Amino acid sequence: MSKTVLVTGGGRGLGRATAEKLAARGHRVLLTARTRAAAEDATEAIQRTDPDARVEPRWVDLSSLEQVRFFGVAEAERGEPIDVLLHVAGILQTSKERRLTVDGHEETLAVNVLAPFLLTALLLPALERSPSARVVTVGSRLHLPGSRGAPVDFDFADVQLEHGYNPERAYKNSKLAVMWFTYELQRRLAGRPITANAVCPGFVPTTAAASTRGLMRLFMAHVLPHMPFATSVDAATDSLVFTAVDPSLDGVGGKFFGECHEIDSSAQSHDVAQAGRFWTIAEHLTGLA
Ligand SMILES: NC(=O)c1ccc[n+]([C@@H]2O[C@H](COP(=O)([O-])OP(=O)(O)OC[C@H]3O[C@@H](n4cnc5c(N)ncnc54)[C@H](OP(=O)(O)O)[C@@H]3O)[C@@H](O)[C@H]2O)c1
Repeated sequence: MSKTVLVTGGGRGLGRATAEKLAARGHRVLLTARTRAAAEDATEAIQRTDPDARVEPRWVDLSSLEQVRFFGVAEAERGEPIDVLLHVAGILQTSKERRLTVDGHEETLAVNVLAPFLLTALLLPALERSPSARVVTVGSRLHLPGSRGAPVDFDFADVQLEHGYNPERAYKNSKLAVMWFTYELQRRLAGRPITANAVCPGFVPTTAAASTRGLMRLFMAHVLPHMPFATSVDAATDSLVFTAVDPSLDGVGGKFFGECHEIDSSAQSHDVAQAGRFWTIAEHLTGLA
């Protein structure tokens, strides 16, 4: 069955490769990038290699709540169903400086969590037009305690990391919050034909290189992809496509997937009280409350 899939982060990286794979399998893709030029370039490039690909460009800067609101409302008002909302766009900051968005929010939290949170809410009418819809968020195993680098350390009194900012901590905290959002969304959607799952693509140095600089970027792009622990773009996008459209997941929600099977997320990600607390904070920060 052909689906209509809205993919964010479609301009480059895993989002772009996933959009291409979905289109090659006959799905209609709403390829969403930060700018109109990026969305149109990616769409044209896909259609050049596959003239039958049904890809339509969309654009929104996810670091601006106003842009997300404008885009989400306009997309829902088209009156068409969206079968799958696949949130791929995400950032891991290269700068050690804490960066704020136009709304004054810490940028990692804003792009990785607040934008998907608001966009999902605004696109619910379009998802409800589908007989069986899915919301898929791209998480990361880095939200697990003990993962390499600065530890995950979510402080509800300082969600914007005004104190103790570290780009890795911001990233891991955001990916924990993505899990809370996904699981809580699944609980709130109970009884409706919409499911919510998260997926980890694995460690994909080829695309993750974009979040590094200098020698590290060269190392990520050219050396790490040959290591046994690295995941190829092809394998990573297989996982994303599986979670987005595989018929075996019809009606399955509230799960975390990797390598096309269910994987464990952290104990903290399953904490219902913390998920509810984060949901309330996200509602306030996005103006949905
Ligand atoms: N690669 C890995 O090893 C890995 C592992 C686990 C999870 N992930 C997750 O997988 C997802 C994709 O990662 P990737 O490796 O493909 O990263 P990437 O190559 O850096 O791509 C990130 C994508 O997000 C988009 N994006 C960033 N900020 C945006 C904004 N403000 N508005 C709109 N789009 C924005 C980028 O668009 P621009 O071109 O406009 O910047 C780009 O398309 C992310 O959520 C990441 O956290 C990746």
